[in-house]
Amino acid sequence: MSAIGVFDSGFGGLTVLKEIINLLPEYNVIYFGDNARSPYGTRSFETVYRYTLGAVNWLFDKNCPLVILACNTASAKALRTIQQKDLPVTNPEKRVLGVIRPVTEIVGEFSLSRHIGIFATPGTVKSNTYIIEISKFFPDLQIVQEACPIWVPLIENNEFNNVGGEYFIQKHIESLFIKDPLIDTVILGCTHYPIIIEQIRKYIPSNVKLINQGSIVAASLSQYFKRHPEIESRFSKNGIREFYTSDTAEEFDRLAMLFYGEKIKSSQIFM
Ligand code: DGL
Repeated sequence: MSAIGVFDSGFGGLTVLKEIINLLPEYNVIYFGDNARSPYGTRSFETVYRYTLGAVNWLFDKNCPLVILACNTASAKALRTIQQKDLPVTNPEKRVLGVIRPVTEIVGEFSLSRHIGIFATPGTVKSNTYIIEISKFFPDLQIVQEACPIWVPLIENNEFNNVGGEYFIQKHIESLFIKDPLIDTVILGCTHYPIIIEQIRKYIPSNVKLINQGSIVAASLSQYFKRHPEIESRFSKNGIREFYTSDTAEEFDRLAMLFYGEKIKSSQIFM
């Protein structure tokens, strides 16, 4: 079988996969979460690139002609090098796409004040990828970022829905709005963050629009397939979904429920 590969450092990409499946249910997909080495958000450029390339090559070997980096950190730190340096030499017929570009292409359509904010991992923030990409499409937007190093561990440890967890959610929201009180649109720039969208809504000003990238990425993939029938025709369409993790499968299956909303059965692989 030939499948769409979906990769994340761990669980977050499941929120994107869910939206891809909602929109394109017939396509076979293979999900790989590198849980043994997550989080990526605090790792160096070089490390994120090396881990991501290894995962992409593994998905290529599983017969995925196209891989989505359903991780902002990997999209920010590894995508460009893989697309420009690796693929032309090693796999010119394969494709790797990220989750940042589709959001940056449309975010300006949501903002009236022309001030937007971004929540992301420290790695994504430091890369400035969102700011660089958004400025290409909407040079008039004022953009401020807030790195939220503790949000991914809070989510993965299921500690976001209590007083302690909410303290850290509120803290980063306040910090973003101190930097720019005129923000009316906020990008959730990490695929884990949709899990805490209710807690974010609780503390963010009610006029602010939250941009959740999963559905935007799914729509963009569907458009991509329409523009590239030569790639689209390479996929099997039996709705088969396979899940792999680099850490223990039982643990992955247990927490995956939170991100994917359905029971899954994964297998462990060693990287
Ligand atoms: N889900 C990843 C992202 O979108 C972050 C998780 C991690 O730090 O590994 O950036």
